[in-house]
Amino acid sequence: MRTLIKNIKELVQVEAGRQKLRAQGGEMAQMETVKDAYLLVEDGKIKAFGKMSDMSAGGVSPAVNADETTALQIDATGRMVFPTFCDSHTHLVYANSREHEFVDKIRGLSYEEIAKRGGGILNSAKATAAASEEELYDMALQRLEMAIRLGTGAMEIKSGYGLTTESELKLLRVIRRLRENTPMTIKANFLGAHGIPMEYRGHQEDYVDLVINEMLPRVADEGLADFVDVFCDQGFFTVADTERILEAGIKYGLKPKIHANEMAISGGVQVGVKYGAISVDHLEQMGDAEIECLKGSATMPTILPGCAFFLNLPLSPARRMIDAGLPVAMASDYNPGTSPSCNMQLILSMACIRYRLTPEEALNATTLNTAYAMGVSKDLGTIAVGKKANFFITKTISSYEYMPYAYGENKVERVFLNGVEV
Ligand code: NIG
Ligand code: FE
Repeated sequence: MRTLIKNIKELVQVEAGRQKLRAQGGEMAQMETVKDAYLLVEDGKIKAFGKMSDMSAGGVSPAVNADETTALQIDATGRMVFPTFCDSHTHLVYANSREHEFVDKIRGLSYEEIAKRGGGILNSAKATAAASEEELYDMALQRLEMAIRLGTGAMEIKSGYGLTTESELKLLRVIRRLRENTPMTIKANFLGAHGIPMEYRGHQEDYVDLVINEMLPRVADEGLADFVDVFCDQGFFTVADTERILEAGIKYGLKPKIHANEMAISGGVQVGVKYGAISVDHLEQMGDAEIECLKGSATMPTILPGCAFFLNLPLSPARRMIDAGLPVAMASDYNPGTSPSCNMQLILSMACIRYRLTPEEALNATTLNTAYAMGVSKDLGTIAVGKKANFFITKTISSYEYMPYAYGENKVERVFLNGVEV
């Protein structure tokens, strides 16, 4: 099946030549576009793109070869086309919202204080344990459909609101069903070490044993996860806990991804780099040693602007990291406790407004670099020949800078995943 999108005002984030797996340092400011463009899609992949003026008088060049086999032609006059966002850090599957804790925080309680008294992640774990797989699937599907409408085409989804073997497996099975039944590209992340259940307080190494000896073998046996994650932070899991879990996860073929340095400089960045983590995420607290340690590594530093906004945390030093030559990715962290929004357009705006990234850097941070952070940048993250045809057509907008500028408004009109409109 072929689809030809014609008269695109500007085709954004294209790669005409060599395809990069990620953009780092000064590369983040580079973003190519084609004005007055066409995009040809065939069998779910990008087949060709270029300038309308390169198409022949009949509206079709030999390169495009869009003869009667072109099933569908779409006129995008006045509209732009972007690759869909990749959201490389979400906790999409959970049972309850947590607006009561939101009010507690307004009244002065900190995130850590709420967690200490059994709220936070444990609050969600309780509600998630009580929900059936079917109910969790229906709730997650609704959220996923909302994310698609906002322009997201790939998502990493974590477990972590289970915290018992059965409940963690239930969450991962929901993620598998989402992967099988929706056009979204999905990667699953096993985050058994997300919170310390009350009954393990004071001897959390026993919970780490449970994660390693009981949960991981079952997760691996059912082939339920691509990644293994640990919340390595003050008041949560230690570097020693993290090392044990990562070593075990790696033995089962899972690639590490880490929650690090949200509350404090936790050693999470260093342990992530040491074990070849594909990404280290949060990074509100970063010293020179953390930046140094990331240099030359294959680990993607990932900032979660929605979480810092929602919890009023200090901002991760994105500018400093890019200026030091590092890549930076930005994801939603969609979850009920610290970032109850899956809106990647808002993340794009926050990247510019709060972290002082240029629109080009912000786009690289939310497309190519997040694709890298979930291991799919060979297939996604830019408009390039041979990549998956995951893209959106905007409403009529004046320039690509309008995307981060007009925050809070949905500028996406039509979304195509695997070449098919959804
Ligand atoms: O990424 N920081 C740890 N985990 C989530 C929050 C989980 C929750 O509060 O429910 C996060 O922010
Ligand atoms: Fe998270």
